[in-house]
Amino acid sequence: MSNSLSPADIAKSSAARRALELVESGMTLGLGTGSTAAWFVRLLSERIRANELAVVGVATSSTTMWLARELGVPLKSLDEAGTIDMTVDGADEFDVALNLTKGGGAALLQEKIVASASRRMVVIADRGKQVEHLGAFPLPVEVVRFGHRVTEAAIARTLQDLDVDGREISLRMSSGHPLVTDEGHHILDLHLGRIGDPPALARALSQLPGVVDHGLFIGMADAVIIGDENGESELIERKSILDLGEQMRNEDA
Ligand code: A5P
Repeated sequence: MSNSLSPADIAKSSAARRALELVESGMTLGLGTGSTAAWFVRLLSERIRANELAVVGVATSSTTMWLARELGVPLKSLDEAGTIDMTVDGADEFDVALNLTKGGGAALLQEKIVASASRRMVVIADRGKQVEHLGAFPLPVEVVRFGHRVTEAAIARTLQDLDVDGREISLRMSSGHPLVTDEGHHILDLHLGRIGDPPALARALSQLPGVVDHGLFIGMADAVIIGDENGESELIERKSILDLGEQMRNEDA
């Protein structure tokens, strides 16, 4: 690992490098968005250029599409690919159940569609993303532009009945204007502090007209790879967490 990398980049690249060990030639890969996922794309491109791997990628944002193109990673659209063997993506937060908050890079909609079409979703992150409760990172909600203030008010009313610590909502801006996502929507950031019941919040948000999707990824990650500043990485499988829960329930019965 290069000494010129910052500690944060050593952690991110370590996680990405470990994820690369899971890749096999012939796979179709979902390529995530964000600085950690960009490490994966860069490392993947090195293996492709060295003729060590032959894979096809499906990008989760225009940013990732341009990066992959620039680095010579072959791409297909999601519709061309149909299904994806494995998606490797970053996260803004993950909890003990491997539920995620995503969308800090405004790509949550394509990220969720690609992850849902994948046989396996592997999250790569540094330790700073590991939290006891989701919510310190503002939760992004993608909303259609039409009537977005009315949708915001509906979200605010919905939050009144939910177990969260904060309820402030802000419209995400970019260069002085409301940000427009790759799919032509706006993003509302929900400053919740702590989300007591992520699945309940996910269900409530999904029911609101005007909400296209939200950054809660519930039960979607199959594994999280945590990279650290020493260049080491740890892989946590969702299956082992579920098995442990089952074992504890059996012991209690
Ligand atoms: C993009 O919309 C997000 O879901 C990213 O995956 C997330 O913000 C993580 O980005 P970093 O790896 O840059 O922290």
